[in-house]
Amino acid sequence: MKKFLAMLLAVVMCVACMTACGGNEAASSDNVLVVGTNAEFPPFEYIGDDGNPDGFDIALIKEIGKKLGMEVKVENMEFGSLVAAIGSKIDASIAGMTITEERLESVDFSDPYYDAYQYVIVSIDSNIATFEDLKYQNIGCQLGTTGFYIADEDIEGAKAIGYNKGVDAVNDLINGRVDLVIIDKNPAMVFGEKFSDKVKVLDGAQFGFEMEQYAIALPKGSELVGKVNNALKELKADGTFDALVKKYIEGNE
Ligand code: ARG
Repeated sequence: MKKFLAMLLAVVMCVACMTACGGNEAASSDNVLVVGTNAEFPPFEYIGDDGNPDGFDIALIKEIGKKLGMEVKVENMEFGSLVAAIGSKIDASIAGMTITEERLESVDFSDPYYDAYQYVIVSIDSNIATFEDLKYQNIGCQLGTTGFYIADEDIEGAKAIGYNKGVDAVNDLINGRVDLVIIDKNPAMVFGEKFSDKVKVLDGAQFGFEMEQYAIALPKGSELVGKVNNALKELKADGTFDALVKKYIEGNE
């Protein structure tokens, strides 16, 4: 009897698990798309006045949700945890996330929706101007980002110092704890504007940084990839995408 009960329990638990974690798109029920972001990246995502994530990416994924007939729920989490959570805790991620070879090993990406560049923020009186000048510096970056990997791997002698929030790296630049910050262009512009009496923003091109492309990350092999791509195409064709660029991004450049 005991054995039977134990087996029954095992079967029940298995079935419960299969229903809860079924397939690749574990977090979603049919009509809900759970999307992870990291709302520390203006103007793409930040915490809005009402305390909820807002920004270009959030508005874009909500429009995509409408096209797919799905309700979008946004989960704010650390940037470095997003990729691993796709397919379990979250169904997708939109987070100004650059398509990289390494990420492609564990997720699929939608078509790219935005071109990005790494920029450099320095204190207002800094002489840093070339790639040579970045060597052997303390470089503040957001953890898990392409900027962090550039500082950590591509710049001789540099020390990459990781922060959960990009803005904290900028604060430490102002405090003199780091010599420069490497972060994507648009947040760099927003932070540069916010602290314009203390820092200046330098174009990544002068350091030879390559162009990156943002895309929505989805579970490997997910049928959502095609659906999201179609939705993106429609939103570009009907002007919605451009309206969001105007509303969220162009005012901040
Ligand atoms: N584009 C960079 C990357 O993919 C930084 C993205 C950071 N995004 C964020 N929401 N904090 O690594």
